[in-house]
Amino acid sequence: MDKVLTKDGSVTFKNSDVDETYHSTSGAKEESLKKFVEPCLDLISKKTKIKVLDICFGLGYNSAALLDALLSNPKLKTVSVSITGIELDKNILLKILEIDSQFDSYYLIKELISKNIEKINSIMPDSNISHKFTIKKDNIKLTLIIGNALSEVKLLNEKFNICFFDPFSPKKHPHLWTLEFFKDIFSLLDNNSILTTYSCARIVRDNLKSAGFTIKDGPCVGRRAPSTIAIKG
Ligand SMILES: C[S@@+](CC[C@H](N)C(=O)[O-])C[C@H]1O[C@@H](n2cnc3c(N)ncnc32)[C@H](O)[C@@H]1O
Repeated sequence: MDKVLTKDGSVTFKNSDVDETYHSTSGAKEESLKKFVEPCLDLISKKTKIKVLDICFGLGYNSAALLDALLSNPKLKTVSVSITGIELDKNILLKILEIDSQFDSYYLIKELISKNIEKINSIMPDSNISHKFTIKKDNIKLTLIIGNALSEVKLLNEKFNICFFDPFSPKKHPHLWTLEFFKDIFSLLDNNSILTTYSCARIVRDNLKSAGFTIKDGPCVGRRAPSTIAIKG
């Protein structure tokens, strides 16, 4: 995994197996904030408590961008936030400790990893057993599940208001953009919930619609094409 400096000054990595970076090279931090978090802020402003499912947690930028956006806004900083992140690859989680992140709240994600470093290090590659770690601070609860999102979502028995959906591209990881997976996620979301994702690929939007979501264009950031906002009404 090579470190890549993106155009907004934030760092990401390149995964050589899929030959893709973990974030847009136009700006990793900007991508998390604009494509994943900002489309959800209006919904959050109407709530006192939110539950967020961060699928393909990676370096945790989408969760960190959310926490920063809430904590820096006087009207949102008292919202109680529970985030559940799911990530398959412990190696990208270990990279979290190497990053001088530009997110103020990144220390919490680092703490979650560093407190559990021995257990995370001992996870065997290709192990089918999932692992769960939690950290709490004030009104924030962050749970990280290390396991396969396809099977882990079937085991969750709570409802979420927001889903950040951030696998590698549909071309490289088509098994994560299927109708079946979107149906599983749809059933985990409360009414009046939002899923945000960077892709606007036809197959992605068709599968999201068939799963029951209503689709809107999200912001165009770093490219001409929009991202996707999927709403469970
Ligand atoms: C585009 S990156 C996500 C970037 C991440 N959201 C961030 O902010 O750093 C895609 C991630 O999906 C993870 N992944 C791949 N297959 C997975 C699976 N079946 N279940 C969970 N995570 C998976 C990869 O390890 C990688 O970290």
